[in-house]
Amino acid sequence: MEQQKKQRVLSAIQPTGMPTLGNYIGALRNWKAMSDEYDCAYAVADLHAITIRQDPKELRRQSMEMFAVLLAIGLDPEKSIIFLQSHVNTHAQLAWLLNCYTQFGEASRMTQFKDKSRAHAENINVGLFTYPVLMAADILLYQAHYVPVGADQKQHLELARDIAERFNGVYGKVFTLPEPFIGTVGARVMSLQEPNQKMSKSDANPRAYVSIMDTPDQIMKKFKSAVTDSDSNVRYAQGKDGINNLMCIYSACTGKDFAAIEREFECKGYGDFKTAVGEAVVDELRPVQERVIKLLDDKAYLEDCAKMGAQKALRIGGRTLDKCMKKIGFWQMRVQKYSRLT
Ligand code: TYM
Repeated sequence: MEQQKKQRVLSAIQPTGMPTLGNYIGALRNWKAMSDEYDCAYAVADLHAITIRQDPKELRRQSMEMFAVLLAIGLDPEKSIIFLQSHVNTHAQLAWLLNCYTQFGEASRMTQFKDKSRAHAENINVGLFTYPVLMAADILLYQAHYVPVGADQKQHLELARDIAERFNGVYGKVFTLPEPFIGTVGARVMSLQEPNQKMSKSDANPRAYVSIMDTPDQIMKKFKSAVTDSDSNVRYAQGKDGINNLMCIYSACTGKDFAAIEREFECKGYGDFKTAVGEAVVDELRPVQERVIKLLDDKAYLEDCAKMGAQKALRIGGRTLDKCMKKIGFWQMRVQKYSRLT
């Protein structure tokens, strides 16, 4: 029987601290779930991270830790392409080209740019502005069909698609048009303290988010102090942002749907529910935490895996970049390219 070519998936995460439960439920778990059915490429987006000033030592450490997390969630470095964005120079090259096919007006409309400009008013650099174009390059280099992300990245994906369509409109079909893959439960995990805000690792209040490396004790405390409402029924309803958020988290960790959760806690109060959510999260994260600790003890293995990932990524991305440059009209020479790692 002829083997069908698998469709490609690409996604990335910034190494700006340990991922939160939001990153994990909204994105990383789907990365793992998709890795059997699709040809997957997953990156640590370290180039994106420097749109905000980073301490060099911390950036190095956090990049390695994030790489270890990707292996710890169960991704197989032989089967999927797992790499660091800065190891693969085609990303920055394609990003430059795509900058010239992106309108100033459309980049200005990105809500994340506006939010981050407000949050980092002292450093509104041009990289922050063209950030979504680099993201488009990440995706389009690999001809990705699907991009598993949380809901906050949807607008960036629409831009990537618009850029691809514009480029294809001028030069013929160069890029595959990517589709976002946004899970039904947990696409937007909210802060435990302000449940109308996204859970974010940059939150000044550490009780607002769960890091995937938090201890069981920390996790239980954070869930016990989660903000809810003055009602006492565990049910999914408008105006119950805190409980809705906890129900999403519990559903994502246990596989139970909202009706089953409502039945389970029918005669119980919020206290019991918060304890159950905390325990479900502790159980979900325990194996990941154990693997992260083991992997960080074997730097040579991490480096080998990163090198293997970068080499595979360079090969695939290099083909797209070549094609793109040829279409634009650059004078191409027969030299060994994309060879930083060989
Ligand atoms: P980043 O590093 O902020 O987040 C990584 C992934 O986690 C998702 N996410 C969430 N999902 C649910 N609830 C939350 N509270 C939550 N917080 C974060 C994000 O949607 C994302 O999927 N620009 C991207 C990284 C990136 C990228 C790419 C993504 C760079 N190049 C190419 C896809 C394709 C970012 O900053 O994600």
